[in-house]
Amino acid sequence: MDYQSVLEEVTAFARPLVGRGQLAQYIPALADVDAERFGIAVADVNGDVYGVGDWQEPFSVQSISKAFSLALVLAEGGERIWDRVGTEPSGNPFNSLVQLEYENGIPRNPFINAGALVVTDRLQSLTGDATTTMLEFLRAESGNPDVACDPVVAASEAEHGDRNAALAHFMASYGNLDNPVATVLEHYFRQCAIRMSCRDLALAGAFLARHGLRGDGTRLLPPREAKQVNAVMLTCGTYDAAGSFAYRVGLPGKSGVGGGIVAVVPGRCTLCVWSPGLDSYGNSVAGVAALDHFTTVTGWSVF
Ligand code: DON
Repeated sequence: MDYQSVLEEVTAFARPLVGRGQLAQYIPALADVDAERFGIAVADVNGDVYGVGDWQEPFSVQSISKAFSLALVLAEGGERIWDRVGTEPSGNPFNSLVQLEYENGIPRNPFINAGALVVTDRLQSLTGDATTTMLEFLRAESGNPDVACDPVVAASEAEHGDRNAALAHFMASYGNLDNPVATVLEHYFRQCAIRMSCRDLALAGAFLARHGLRGDGTRLLPPREAKQVNAVMLTCGTYDAAGSFAYRVGLPGKSGVGGGIVAVVPGRCTLCVWSPGLDSYGNSVAGVAALDHFTTVTGWSVF
């Protein structure tokens, strides 16, 4: 596969859509980003990486961090996490409260905010420092020691974080958090506020294309658990648009309101695309179109 030419073709296809959609307004620090940005990178299972456009420019990973926290919890603590969070699509917005009460404080899946708060709580209990654990993993896999949290974005999230605080307190009332709400929120916001480029994220997510093997050949996850992360990405990784994402792109994918999306072609490669304009579900307009075109051109989807 000539990745470079494919990425150039995909970029030409998606370019007219760059700038469409809205920037995330509810986290003010994210509304300052240039809406005209577009980058795409692919890392193959051998660790070779290719990219086009703004593929080396760091952006706020936001909910893409939820895929890494789930993988790290499975790696540290195994499948017991599934007693505290489900594996079904929510069909509701990523910050919705309503389902939690009907379902006794057990979030539908690890990729809505409530689910990620539970996963962060477990990672904190297992490691003593959820954010540092994630940063160390991301730096090692991307080979970039400069991967870090953006304190301005983290503070902006905390300042406008009433909805996430409500979710966390609600779950605490059901006994589904072990750590204090303030600790869980702090780590959750800092993980969302990590800045990485498409290049860094494609490399960091390549273990999902390698059925759980890290870049150095050691094992992060057994194949069964790598399968679980990919499957939940496919069914829940783009929130209440997961059905249309599966229909258009046909790959496990995880989006964030910073405009990034990581997508996995198991056995072959991991992609990351970034463009800040979001659709009404919180997914990058140009990013989804680029991934749609990538799977159309290559024929590489899981279907
Ligand atoms: O907690 C939040 O709302 C954000 N830090 C992350 C949300 C997000 O990225 C959902 N994505 N589409």
